[in-house]
Amino acid sequence: MDNPRSFIVITLFPEPVSGMLNSSILRKAQEKGIVHFTVLNLRDFGNGRYRSTDDYPYGGGGGMILRPEPVFRALQFARERVCGLQENLQQGDSILPRIVYPSPQGRVFHQKDAWAWSTDPRPIIFLAGHYEGIDERILLGHSIEEWSIGDYVLTGGELPALAMIDSIVRLLPGVLSDPQTVRNETFSGDLFDYPQYTRPPVFEGMKVPDVLLSGDHARIGQYRREKAREKMLRVRPELLS
Ligand SMILES: C[S@@+](CC[C@H](N)C(=O)[O-])C[C@H]1O[C@@H](n2cnc3c(N)ncnc32)[C@H](O)[C@@H]1O
Repeated sequence: MDNPRSFIVITLFPEPVSGMLNSSILRKAQEKGIVHFTVLNLRDFGNGRYRSTDDYPYGGGGGMILRPEPVFRALQFARERVCGLQENLQQGDSILPRIVYPSPQGRVFHQKDAWAWSTDPRPIIFLAGHYEGIDERILLGHSIEEWSIGDYVLTGGELPALAMIDSIVRLLPGVLSDPQTVRNETFSGDLFDYPQYTRPPVFEGMKVPDVLLSGDHARIGQYRREKAREKMLRVRPELLS
């Protein structure tokens, strides 16, 4: 079996991050040995007796900034941790991690990036920012990629890191029971996924379209493509062009 893909999250909020990583498909992917998750508590790398991790910004302005030393120590530990997995790697495998800082100022992460990252064997370290962000010197001194999950500002990098991990992991072979599922999904083909129905056949006066009960797979396929196209035209016409 291949080495498990390694994802490390550095965060001030390890509990909710671990909670999500240990739920649903992500938990199953771990149990199958396809992925390995490590969650590091940034506070463990904090300064002094109080494990301080943040401070006021030089030059004034609101909010707090994550100090560089704890972040630097956590990154170093994460790298060593990643290298600690080296024994399990086969010769020639790349162990140099990719370091990702989720940031609203980064390149926007799309499904095509999730596909590309799903085939890249490098471990990924996610550095979840908080408060008003991190000291700029961390970004200048390391080769860190900034990636955004969309043009809006969140409280922390935890949700973006989880969103990116989730979108990558579900594409890894063996994670979902039917590998075709991800090929037909929204943003993986030319069209949105089609509208789905399950039991009961009538709900609040609304019937499941007859064609889906017909057993005629050619007609069902055509109907689904039409509906997917209709919705795309209505909601995201720019994607059709
Ligand atoms: C309140 S935000 C800091 C925003 C920063 N002061 C700015 O205006 O660009 C705190 C942290 O949340 C994360 N974050 C917020 N919005 C994000 C987004 N759209 N994509 C990825 N990460 C985001 C980043 O890690 C960031 O350091």
